[in-house]
Amino acid sequence: MYKIAVLPGDGTGPEVVAEGLKVLEAVAAKVGFKYETETFDFGGDRYLRTNEVLPESATKDLQQFDAIYLGAIGHPDVKPGILEKGILLKLRFELDQYINLRPVKLYPNVDTPLKDKGPEQIDFVVVRENTEGIYTGVGGFFKKGTPDEVAIQESVNTRKGVERCIRYAYEYTQRRNKTNTLTLCGKTNVLTFAMDLWERAFNEVGESDYPDIKRDYAHVDAICMWMVKNPEWFDVIVTDNIFGDIITDLGAMIQGGMGIAAGGNINPHGVSMFEPIGGSAPKYTGQNVINPIAAIEACRLMLDTIGEPRAADIIQKAVVATLGKMKGVGAGKMGFSTTEVGDLVAEACA
Ligand code: IPM
Ligand code: MN
Repeated sequence: MYKIAVLPGDGTGPEVVAEGLKVLEAVAAKVGFKYETETFDFGGDRYLRTNEVLPESATKDLQQFDAIYLGAIGHPDVKPGILEKGILLKLRFELDQYINLRPVKLYPNVDTPLKDKGPEQIDFVVVRENTEGIYTGVGGFFKKGTPDEVAIQESVNTRKGVERCIRYAYEYTQRRNKTNTLTLCGKTNVLTFAMDLWERAFNEVGESDYPDIKRDYAHVDAICMWMVKNPEWFDVIVTDNIFGDIITDLGAMIQGGMGIAAGGNINPHGVSMFEPIGGSAPKYTGQNVINPIAAIEACRLMLDTIGEPRAADIIQKAVVATLGKMKGVGAGKMGFSTTEVGDLVAEACA
C-alpha cells in the first residue's frame, strides 16, 4: 500500500493534479497495486488566509509518505519568492531531495520548434543538483538601500553534495544504457573554484567507479547552443542547481513545452516529490484548457521511482496514444479540454 501526499497547490495545479490522479487510479487497477492519498492545502490561498507559508510539521508529516505529488506553486496575489522559497525550495531542502531529474523527450506527434529534429534526436535526461549552489540563500546585503549598497549571493558547492549528485548521474546513465555518455555541464572557464570541484569529482568518480561510462564536458552557454543544434548528442547531462534550472526550461521547449515537461525532486534514500515543471499558469485557472500531460508525466515518474515500472510503462504508452489524438499541446489548443485529455489517458491505461 503506497501512501501518496498530494499537494495540488495554486492556479491550474489542482486541475492537472486531478487528471494525474485519474490516471493513477486507472493504472493501479490495471497493474494491481494499492495506494491511498492525503491532500495538503499548501499554496498561495492558504498563505493569504492564514499568513503561514508552511506549517511547522509539514516536513515531518510528509516524511511519512512514499511519495509527494505536487501540482504547482505560485500565486498572483503573493509577492514572487515567498511561496517558491517557503514551500517548493523548503521542501526540496528539508526533505534532502538532492536530485532534480528532468527527462527531455520529444514524443511522436508533438511539435518541436527545432527544424529537422524529431523523437529520434530529442531524448536525453538532465540530472540537476537540487540542494546547493546559489539556491542556498547564503549571502546578504551590505549598506542596503544606500548608494553604496552591496548584494552578495554565494554559490555553495560541497564535495559531498556534488559527489552524491554526480554518482547518481553515473548510476542513472548506466541504468538508462543508451549511449552510456554522461556530460558535465559547467563553466570551468570562469567559475574556477566551484566548477573545478565539480570537474574533479566528475573525473575521479568516473575513472574509479564508472570506467564504462563515457565522460563529456560542455560549458553551460555552449550546451544551450548544442541543445538547439545537436540535441542528439546528449544521453545524460549532470549540472549544478542554477544551470540545471535554466537548461531544463530550454529542454522543456524542445520537447513540446510546459504542457509536457515533468520532473522529480528525488531523495534516493527518502521521500521524493514529483511535479509538472510549468508553474501555476494562473490566467488559465478554472477554464479546463490547460494541458494535463505534464502532470500525468510527473505521475509516471513517481511510479517509476517508487517501484512500479510496469505502471509507468503503461502510462507512457497511453500518453503517446493520447498525444496522437490531440491537435496540439498548448493551453486551449489541444482539441480537447483538460478533463478530456485525462479521460483519454486513463482509458488508454485500462
Ligand atoms: C523550477 C522552478 C523553481 C526553481 C522556482 C519556482 C523556485 O523554476 O522548479 O525549475 O528555480 O527551481
Ligand atoms: Mn525553473
